[in-house]
Amino acid sequence: MSNYKHFASKAIRTQSKQSGFREHSTPLYLTSSFTFESAEQARAMFADELEGNIYTRFSNPNNNEFIEKLCLLEKAQAGVATASGMSAMFSSMAGLLKKGDHVLASRSIFGSTHQLFTQVFPKWGIEHTYVDIDKPETWESQINSRTRMIFAETPSNPGLDIIDLSWLGKLAARHDLILNIDNCFATPYLQQPTDFGVHLVTHSATKFIDGQGRTIGGAIVGDEELIKEIRFFTRHTGPALSPFNGWMLSKSLETLPVRMEKHCDNAHKIAEYLEDHEELESVKYPFLKSHPQQELAKKQMRYGGALVTFVVSGGYQRAVKFLDHLSMLSLTANLGDTRTTVTHPASTTHSKLTEEERLRVGIQPGLIRISVGLENVNDILEDIVGALLASREKKIA
Ligand SMILES: Cc1ncc(COP(=O)(O)O)c(C=O)c1O
Repeated sequence: MSNYKHFASKAIRTQSKQSGFREHSTPLYLTSSFTFESAEQARAMFADELEGNIYTRFSNPNNNEFIEKLCLLEKAQAGVATASGMSAMFSSMAGLLKKGDHVLASRSIFGSTHQLFTQVFPKWGIEHTYVDIDKPETWESQINSRTRMIFAETPSNPGLDIIDLSWLGKLAARHDLILNIDNCFATPYLQQPTDFGVHLVTHSATKFIDGQGRTIGGAIVGDEELIKEIRFFTRHTGPALSPFNGWMLSKSLETLPVRMEKHCDNAHKIAEYLEDHEELESVKYPFLKSHPQQELAKKQMRYGGALVTFVVSGGYQRAVKFLDHLSMLSLTANLGDTRTTVTHPASTTHSKLTEEERLRVGIQPGLIRISVGLENVNDILEDIVGALLASREKKIA
């Protein structure tokens, strides 16, 4: 594997060993299992005395390449590739926590992760306390003797709120807690949580890591000892990434820096243009002056990210009309695609939250989430502004 100095070179040049065919691009290893040279080698591999691929549920050269590359980019010691972002979130917790444990979790998290905390883990006696991302001063008092992990997203989905990773790293260290950060919105190109003492970095690779809306995948990278425990869990519970997807995700990482630069440039321009638009109640983007944590965002992120949110005047009805008047932008629940995608979180990704829970994390009925793609920025803006104007209430003369 590579020891290149710069991010882009690591992303492009980290590659598994060439096979005997002298191929330039890594081949696909579509194989369920691997053969042993001898019965003794098989025994030794199963006994963990020898490293090597045994069975694709455990490891596979394509997934290994993907995860080793991601580890380099995230400055992490080890990692596990998983079948989806949710299997990464789930395994990063279920693999380490036991009955009676408690997680201190940011309230501003993805809808399915919220379901894990509120519907799945309580069945096994794993509890949580939610804390507000914009009130870090309240977090420490919620840590108790059973707390083992802190979990947060930054920027959060879809609120685009930021938590101070340096402060959080110190808080976790002071209480000897595992700090688990979903880095899906920023990607390692914009921020590397391990710089701040984060122990586990979790990803939905479905988003910007693939970047082209083609596949589902996930990853957990971080501290070697923790990953060892998580690997035991995934090996025996089976949320393995398909080698085809591992191959695709490793290839996708090659273009992560150039894609993220363009995503962020387009998103920043769109946020700035829309900021004073009369049809909007508010616009949120981490690098806008009006963002309450702009300074913090600039401190820990290279760029402001690819997500922009706004609240349309006129609430839910107006939001629906706006969506139905879009022509180029894709109305879909995914994000992190080359194509600009638009989501109405209150009625889709976060619909399982109660209205009160949604409002508490800033998901108003008129909130629209735009994942800005790589199309020409003027075309994206023209579609947004056109739909905003077309969805206006007609004034009766
Ligand atoms: C922040 C965040 N984390 C996790 C997930 C779950 O990822 P996946 O859909 O790949 O399971 C998502 C999906 O939207 C997400 O936005």
